[in-house]
Amino acid sequence: MGMTDAAYQKCINPGCGAEFDCGQAMFKCPKCGELLDARYNWDKIEVPSQLSDFGKRWATRNNRLDLSGVWRFRELLNFCSDEHKVTIGEGQTILQQNDAVAKYVDMKAGSLYLEYEGLNPSGSFKDNGMSAAFSHAMMVGAKSCACASTGNTSASVALYAHSCGLKCTVFIGSGRIAFGKLSQAMDYGAQTIQIQGDFDDCMRQVQDVCTKLGLYLLNSLNPFRLEGQKTIMYRIMEQLGWEIPDWIIVPGGNLGNSSAFGKAFLELKELGLIKKVPRLAIINATGADTLTDLVNNKKLVWNDGNVDQKIIDEYYDDLTAKNFSPHTCASAIEISRPVNLKKCLRAIDVCDGIVRAVTDEEICDAKAIIGKYGLGCEPASAATIAGLKHLRAEGVVGADERVACVLTGHLLKDPNVTVDYHKESQGPFSNPPIEVANDLDEIIKLIK
Ligand code: F0G
Repeated sequence: MGMTDAAYQKCINPGCGAEFDCGQAMFKCPKCGELLDARYNWDKIEVPSQLSDFGKRWATRNNRLDLSGVWRFRELLNFCSDEHKVTIGEGQTILQQNDAVAKYVDMKAGSLYLEYEGLNPSGSFKDNGMSAAFSHAMMVGAKSCACASTGNTSASVALYAHSCGLKCTVFIGSGRIAFGKLSQAMDYGAQTIQIQGDFDDCMRQVQDVCTKLGLYLLNSLNPFRLEGQKTIMYRIMEQLGWEIPDWIIVPGGNLGNSSAFGKAFLELKELGLIKKVPRLAIINATGADTLTDLVNNKKLVWNDGNVDQKIIDEYYDDLTAKNFSPHTCASAIEISRPVNLKKCLRAIDVCDGIVRAVTDEEICDAKAIIGKYGLGCEPASAATIAGLKHLRAEGVVGADERVACVLTGHLLKDPNVTVDYHKESQGPFSNPPIEVANDLDEIIKLIK
């Protein structure tokens, strides 16, 4: 069915470790319920002997797979044959060195880079994951798909589903989605269902719906989606001339990205393609800081896969008892039960990672600075710069270390937060519009 025999699925629970071929669509280990990984028999894959060989494909961009910022690295996610590979031109992203933003976080000129994933076809990093996951969906012959979303996943799923000819249903929390994202889901033709609840409620429902109706699930529980998201790290290195940054900083929501990044570096190290692994900083919003609390306060660790489930269960029971629902202006990361928690703990282990939480105010100020001096981004993405500011103040990150922040989504995804900040003068970097009479002299007086 178009599988490569070089790939398989494996349960991340060391007490189980069950293996399955890639011809099955599952989002949990059918034996023990844990997360699944895509794994490779590397000796069956012709992986280039040096990373720079991937860059040679820039010369053959008329080949659609070489144009894709995901499939350009196809040997590193070799789970399906070329005929099933789906691409709509994702991953044409820019790593921008930005000295003005560096100054804001008290870093030296030349040290800060912003990886702008807003340039993807649907305006967020999700497209990296969807090109891989939809390829798997095509491989297994899926006809209908679904996802739960804080907005970007639904936009990306809707776009890819249409281009693959799959029916698609997206679940979003009522009133919890930014307008740009909602408009995308509707315009791309997805059946859009707003559940009276938050993202965590939607996530629970969509799993049951998919199981009952046999729909293909596109949340980051899907191991193949994370394979696509690994390529964000490859592209950062590519744009640094195949050098490895000292730090990667990423917002943390459902923890798919952080999990994928850790896996990317783990594999490159195994393959001998890199010598050093960057450190990873994952940034939560204070109103949705489960990971920060579990790692920094409850001392939850990967422990070779033997994660202390009791700590997690007690934590979630407590959230339920308090009837807790997360709240942050960074609606993309308004999540309190991140499904990839354990894989993220593995990434923290691999990358000597750390976790911090930042306030909505810090996020909005950082967003205004990124907008003014960079390419702009949505609130969740700006958590990276707000987090880096903390880490500089703490002295955890050095002023001249090389840092790459992943700006996960486009500025236009969430116009409301941006307009409120500027127009209502909510912060020190607000830039409100000025009202003036329809009069030339009055107008001229205003021009600075
Ligand atoms: N940034 C943006 C712009 C996002 O949309 C998301 C997640 C994240 C960061 C967090 O990434 O889940 O990999 O830790 N959005 C999901 C969605 C949950 O439904 O669109 P993560």
